[in-house]
Amino acid sequence: MRFALAILAAVTVAIAPQGARGQFSTRLGGVNTAGWDFSVDTSGDFSGTGDAPPVSQYTHFSGEGANLYRIPFAWQLMTPTLGGTINSSFFEEYDTTVQAALSSNSDVYVIVDLHNYARWNGDIVGQGGPTNAQFASIWTQLADEYGSNDRIIFGIMNEPHDLNVTEWVASVQYVVNAVRSAGSTNYLLLPGSTYSSAQTFPTEAGPYLVDVTDPLGGTDKLLFDVHKYLDSDNSGTHSTCVTNNTEVLETLVSFLQENGNRQAILSETGGGETSSCYTYLAEELAYVQSAYPNLVGFSVWAAGAFDTSYVLSVTPYSNGTDETLWTEAVRPYLP
Ligand SMILES: *[C@@H]1O[C@H](CO)[C@@H](O)[C@H](O)[C@H]1NC(C)=O
Ligand SMILES: *[C@@H]1O[C@H](CO)[C@@H](O)[C@H](O)[C@H]1NC(C)=O
Ligand SMILES: *[C@@H]1O[C@H](CO)[C@@H](O)[C@H](O)[C@H]1NC(C)=O
Ligand SMILES: *[C@@H]1O[C@H](CO)[C@@H](O)[C@H](O)[C@H]1NC(C)=O
Repeated sequence: MRFALAILAAVTVAIAPQGARGQFSTRLGGVNTAGWDFSVDTSGDFSGTGDAPPVSQYTHFSGEGANLYRIPFAWQLMTPTLGGTINSSFFEEYDTTVQAALSSNSDVYVIVDLHNYARWNGDIVGQGGPTNAQFASIWTQLADEYGSNDRIIFGIMNEPHDLNVTEWVASVQYVVNAVRSAGSTNYLLLPGSTYSSAQTFPTEAGPYLVDVTDPLGGTDKLLFDVHKYLDSDNSGTHSTCVTNNTEVLETLVSFLQENGNRQAILSETGGGETSSCYTYLAEELAYVQSAYPNLVGFSVWAAGAFDTSYVLSVTPYSNGTDETLWTEAVRPYLP
């Protein structure tokens, strides 16, 4: 079936006029449901067992119009041995989460997010740590599971940082080629550097990532993955916000337009339960909405297994009420 689909896609590519092949044509808005990534730190170190995001959140948010869920997971949970086979018991648990999100509404998309900062236990992918083949191995196995589901987007790596950008982009190209060889036709989310910074994208990794090619033909199915927070140091660790990021996002959109009219998703952004964030996050997401289709959409960080006391939580309270940040700044900009 997947093989047949791949052939069909190749034929479509050959006969479709340039540009008509399938830019992402649905505006997306939703939330990260964290838990299966607890706890990977920025060095790619991992400890624990992960936490299942409560599945009731998917019907809750989908009922309000959300149609995008980013579901992060730890590399070490999915393949306990680097480059080894997927742990089928863990995959079953992760997939239960994914299927709950997908079945919460027929228009829902899921980003399957490898949340490892381009690292495994401190070592950088393709740069002394995991080989490109080991990095590709987890994705070809996930392509076997999800490769024919067009509502699943592969977020091939969360927040690469402090690495050689040209070598990183070669690792990205390696994975793109590998998942297509495995028969996947999914949209792929390609991350830059500096923690997937939307701000540095146009000058740092963007100029290299725009040259990544897709064996399917064209580049419509290669979306860029960008993150941007609104606190004083763009870290997403403070409860107050100091910017609406409009300038940064305008610069990004110009870059996308000048480089083949490409598309990006703001897959992490967010703020605290404070009036500055109610204002600035709402302004940011209003801009994201206005910049569609170059900005396909957003997912806010974060709900899922986070307690409502977490500084950037948008987890609903136990009585079913949403946090004010969600009600004021996010819900109005859902698709
Ligand atoms: C595989 O996943 C199951 C379920 O999460 C877990 O109990 C088990 O320890 C995992 N196996 C390895 C080798 O990590
Ligand atoms: C990054 O890697 C490339 C290719 O190996 C190399 O030519 C370049 O010098 C490296 N850049 C830095 C800043 O080390
Ligand atoms: C963001 O803030 C700037 C500067 O205060 C303002 O000019 C702009 O209109 C705001 N953007 C939106 C979308 O509200
Ligand atoms: C639900 O709980 C939150 C947090 O404790 C509280 O602020 C809110 O007023 C409650 N809402 C209702 C309708 O009970």
